[in-house]
Amino acid sequence: MPLVNTSEMFKKAYEGGYAIGAFNVNNMEIVQGIVEACKELNSPVILQASGGARKYAHSAYLYNMVQAAVAETDLPIALHLDHGASFELCKDCIESGFTSVMIDGSHLDYEENVAVTKKVVEYAHKYNVTVEGELGQLAGIEDEVNVDADKANYTDPGQVQDFVSRTGVDSLAIAIGTSHGAFKFKPGQKPQLRFDILQEVMDRLPGFPIVLHGASSVMPEYVAMVNQFGGQMADAIGIPEDMLRQAASMAVCKINVDSDLRLAMTAGIRKHLAENPTHFDPRQYLGDGRQFITDVVKHKITEVLGSAGKA
Ligand code: G3H
Ligand code: 13P
Ligand code: ZN
Repeated sequence: MPLVNTSEMFKKAYEGGYAIGAFNVNNMEIVQGIVEACKELNSPVILQASGGARKYAHSAYLYNMVQAAVAETDLPIALHLDHGASFELCKDCIESGFTSVMIDGSHLDYEENVAVTKKVVEYAHKYNVTVEGELGQLAGIEDEVNVDADKANYTDPGQVQDFVSRTGVDSLAIAIGTSHGAFKFKPGQKPQLRFDILQEVMDRLPGFPIVLHGASSVMPEYVAMVNQFGGQMADAIGIPEDMLRQAASMAVCKINVDSDLRLAMTAGIRKHLAENPTHFDPRQYLGDGRQFITDVVKHKITEVLGSAGKA
């Protein structure tokens, strides 16, 4: 099966009350680690690359690694641009074979967000590429943009119908209290998401796929392992898994995970090197990092997303 866009996978996910994992990819071991888990569990998947990932790995390398994954599996795989910052970047990704793009105009004034999102949709749909837009702003760091918690703002449900109908987007990312990175809540703070906003968005956009960014649960066992082997991430806190499951059972069809993969890879490498101080073959420690990524993605698919067996 060739790369697919997100239309069919979101339709099935919405109807089935589950979500598709959208995992950030930056190098070969990450691509392989994710895809191995999806193969074992027969799960559809979105592999997403940020602008920063494209700069780091070079777009052609990322694209061809994903094509290699497509060739060796029969899974529905979408290649998605994460947090596209401009029309030009989206256009470039569409021209180089991405099947889905996000245009992130969430930091812009509302009318500017509508205008740039509409422009991307008009271009993308000519090539059967699906488009994700965003309304509301998450706190945290994404692609060199650092949004302070006090500048983040929840999505206004009163805007969603107007935004979707005027832009023609295929899915919408909303802000309900998640944030990017590994430090989503302060120590002692009770994690909370605004399910009332999600419900109101759902009521106003029946059947329409919603996207949750900043949705790593920052799995405590990997935080503990990183700390045990020399890291300093004691205060890392993510979104509780029961909240993510609840979101997946509602209109959320795409759950974005990057920080959990970073943690898993770092834990695997730190543990390997601490336990094997004489090793210096990258295949040994990167191999453990890759295996940890597979373990995390399998856990997400079975315990959070509910996408096992849905390929
Ligand atoms: O939302 C941001 C993702 O975690 C991507 O991060 O821009 O550092 O690649 P990045
Ligand atoms: P996390 O930092 O919670 O993994 O979020 C990733 C994300 O939203 C990518 O777009
Ligand atoms: Zn994001």
